[in-house]
Amino acid sequence: MTKRLKHIAPSIIAKNQGELEEKLDRVKDFAKVIHLDVMDGNFVQNESLNFDFILPELPCRVEAHLMVRYPEKWIAKNYRKADLIQVHYETCKSLPKLCKFLKQHKKQVGLVLNPETKVSDVSDKLKYFDQVLVMTVNPGFYGSPFLKENLDKIYEIKQLRKGIEVEVDGGITDKTIKYARDAGADVFVSGSYVMKAENPEEAFNKLQSLLK
Ligand code: DX5
Ligand code: ZN
Repeated sequence: MTKRLKHIAPSIIAKNQGELEEKLDRVKDFAKVIHLDVMDGNFVQNESLNFDFILPELPCRVEAHLMVRYPEKWIAKNYRKADLIQVHYETCKSLPKLCKFLKQHKKQVGLVLNPETKVSDVSDKLKYFDQVLVMTVNPGFYGSPFLKENLDKIYEIKQLRKGIEVEVDGGITDKTIKYARDAGADVFVSGSYVMKAENPEEAFNKLQSLLK
């Protein structure tokens, strides 16, 4: 079996188009995955990409992490902007329907679990998804404390659905990434560690090197 490559996904929190473009410029030449944090100021206490943003052509996977109360509404209007759409279990009333819609439009779908959500809450839903995103912080901001105990969910998820991609989001640094790697994660979102670094490419390479 070929080993799946492990990726660092820089995350973008932006209040306006200018900030989005400025942050994309920091990472678009080397990132293989870019993680867009969409926040509505309701599901989480912050706003990000909560406007009709425009993306340039990007040569990498673009994922949209929807921290919004009504993901169905966002998706109906914006699904074309991303390759993978990540929906919180805690927000969505009709996951199978939403997955069907996105599949019809050739999009991948990820299921996001907040720290308080257990794998047993979602075990019958995993079959609809291409990926699971395990939150290792309470969502909303760059730089929140890393909640390591959530990493145990990765093993449980992979037991229930062999081979499914699992991504972790929040608090990933050069100190914490080894725990997520050893727990079996495939994709590692990095907000502040990469985006706020003086040299984002160096910070990115440092994290990537710790995955070997
Ligand atoms: C907020 C977002 C995360 C955030 C990660 O919860 O979903 O993607 O950008 O930022 P750090 O890596 O600083 O915790
Ligand atoms: Zn995120």
